[in-house]
Amino acid sequence: MSSAPSVMLFERIDFMKKDIRRAVIAGNWKMNKTRPEAETLITDLKPLAENAGCEVVICVPFTNLETAVRLTAGTNIKVGAQNCHFAKSGAYTGEISADMLKEVGVEYVVLGHSERRQYFGETDETVNKRTKAALEAGLKPIVCVGELLWERESGITEEVISRQIKLDFAGISADELMNCIIAYEPVWAIGTGKTATADQAEEVCAFIRNVLAGLYGTDVAEKITIQYGGSMNAGNAAELLSKTNVDGGLIGGASLKAPDFATIINAATNG
Ligand code: 13P
Repeated sequence: MSSAPSVMLFERIDFMKKDIRRAVIAGNWKMNKTRPEAETLITDLKPLAENAGCEVVICVPFTNLETAVRLTAGTNIKVGAQNCHFAKSGAYTGEISADMLKEVGVEYVVLGHSERRQYFGETDETVNKRTKAALEAGLKPIVCVGELLWERESGITEEVISRQIKLDFAGISADELMNCIIAYEPVWAIGTGKTATADQAEEVCAFIRNVLAGLYGTDVAEKITIQYGGSMNAGNAAELLSKTNVDGGLIGGASLKAPDFATIINAATNG
C-alpha cells in the first residue's frame, strides 16, 4: 500500500474531555419507509428512547417530516431532514428550502452526505452554501465528511478530510459552528457492513477536532460534537462510542429497526 507523505505538519492536540460534549445519536432513514411504516417505527421507538441520556434525532424522508414532527411532539426525539437547498425560494424544481423545513418543525438537517456527493453532484461548494442557508434558517446542520476507499489506500485520508472541513465550513463563524454537528462517514464503510475499527474512527474524529482547532481555536474545537457513521449497529456501537473523540453516531440501516436503534442510543447513554 503506497503512503503519501502527510501535508498536515501541525502539532497534534490530544483532546481528552469527552464529557463536555453533547452525545447525539441520529438515524438517517435515507429513502426508506412509507408513511404508515414511519408511524409504526416512531411509535415503537418512543418508549425505547424516552430515558435516553443522549440527544436522539431521526432524519426522515421529506414525505415523512410532518408525520415525524407530529408523532414526536412532546418527546425527546428530534426530527431532521436529509438535505436542503441553499436558495430561499425560486425555480429549483424538486428542491426544498431550509425555511420550508423550519416551518414544518424540523430541527436538524443532514448535509453533504456521501450519497448526495456521489449520485447528485454535491460538491464542497454546494455543501458550504447549504450549510449557511440551514444555519440562517435556524436549523442545525449535520455535515458529513469522509474519504473514499482509494483515498484511504493512497494515504490521503487526512488531506481529504481537512479539505472538506475547510471548504464546507468556509465563512462560517465559531458561533455558527457551535450549532453544527460533524459526521465522519468513511465512504467505504457506508452500507457495506464494513465498519471502521473503533481506533480508525477515533483517529479521524480526533484529526477533525485538530483541524477545527486550527480554524477556530481549541476551546471551540473541544465543544463540537463529532459523530461516526458507517455500518454502526447494535453490536459494534458501544466500542465505537466509547472512544474519546467519537461523540455519537449517524446510523443508516440499523436506525430502521427500533430495538437496534434503541441499543445504540443506550450505548451512547452509557458510553
Ligand atoms: P449505514 O449505517 O447503513 O452504513 O449508513 C451510514 C450512513 O450513511 C448514515 O448517514
